[in-house]
Amino acid sequence: MNKPKVVVIGSGSWGFNHVRTFYALPDCELVGVSDLVEKNLERVKKQFPEIPVEKDYQKFIKNPEVDVVVIATSAETHFQIAKDALLNGKHCMVEKPITLDINEAEELVNLAKERNLTLMVGHLLLYHSAVEYLKKIVDKKSIGDMLYIYSQRVNLGKVRSKENALWSFAPHDISIMLHLINSNAVKVSATGQTFLQKRKGIYDVVFFTIYFKNGVIATGQVSWLDPHKIRKFTIVGSKKMVTFDDMEMREKIRIYDKGVDASNVQYDSFAESLILHDGDIKIPKINLSEPLKKEANHFIDCIINHKTPLSDGQNGLDVLKVLVGAQKSLEQNGQPIEI
Ligand SMILES: NC(=O)c1ccc[n+]([C@@H]2O[C@H](COP(=O)([O-])OP(=O)(O)OC[C@H]3O[C@@H](n4cnc5c(N)ncnc54)[C@H](O)[C@@H]3O)[C@@H](O)[C@H]2O)c1
Repeated sequence: MNKPKVVVIGSGSWGFNHVRTFYALPDCELVGVSDLVEKNLERVKKQFPEIPVEKDYQKFIKNPEVDVVVIATSAETHFQIAKDALLNGKHCMVEKPITLDINEAEELVNLAKERNLTLMVGHLLLYHSAVEYLKKIVDKKSIGDMLYIYSQRVNLGKVRSKENALWSFAPHDISIMLHLINSNAVKVSATGQTFLQKRKGIYDVVFFTIYFKNGVIATGQVSWLDPHKIRKFTIVGSKKMVTFDDMEMREKIRIYDKGVDASNVQYDSFAESLILHDGDIKIPKINLSEPLKKEANHFIDCIINHKTPLSDGQNGLDVLKVLVGAQKSLEQNGQPIEI
């Protein structure tokens, strides 16, 4: 295959990063950018004057010269644009969340399968070097058996008016949780509150818990109404505990040699038979590289070499099912919902 020709649809605050990234990738060629807003197209023209821009994305999608479409528009438009792209034979990367509706996501997954096209979802953090490191140590059981995970993704940040904090932030945490916990998510519960846009019912803060078939639980807090900027994961294993703090510049992962051995418990003297260990803290050296560049490279590599992306359409659908369940639970005061 010649260098795939790529267009980016949606060049807003996040999509512009895709424009910059795909423009710089050596194995593909950026051949167009679409956005509805003139100011966003002007920004593209200013920085990349040779790249054609269009308000109407159909002009690119109908062009047989275009091989690949990257969609970074607002979530409610993902389905229609991705469907148009797949129906016109384009490989497709769609930002998270894949769609807002499970049936729609299933339709995209099936369309891509039927037409032998690559469908990938922008679960960016799966391409973060620290998450790759976590995956290795979890799979090798270096921390023993996984017991539970909790995450925080909070700050005082961009308040959205169409999607709530769950849909805006939690796809990242859920995608990491599903990736690390080698088991199916079976149930989810969520509670939260609306403060800033009460009439629209947009949740500013959400606490969710996912229950996995193997007994692991994963819980997360997401908010754009918080004094701290925190992007942190804590994984508790039976032998060791690990933190991934994405706000740390270099020392993103810490492995704590801490745990409690309950394997020889004699129930008549329970407390005495639990053996605590509290050892060293290891900070592994991780070669950090830009996740977005890795994600884009992986996508193009999968297209050229007919590989299945790590965050393929099915992965997008799995994350979506948890989001949909969490949303239902939010609306039912935290009632657990089967996934
Ligand atoms: N992976 C990540 O880390 C990450 C981070 C931020 C946002 N996102 C995702 O990226 C997407 C965009 O988010 P954003 O913050 O850039 O939003 P945004 O509102 O800043 O940008 C969306 C852009 O899409 C354009 N658009 C909408 N419909 C269009 C159409 N039919 N044709 C052409 N352009 C169209 C809009 O004009 C707008 O400029 C969302 O799905 C969001 O969840 C992902």
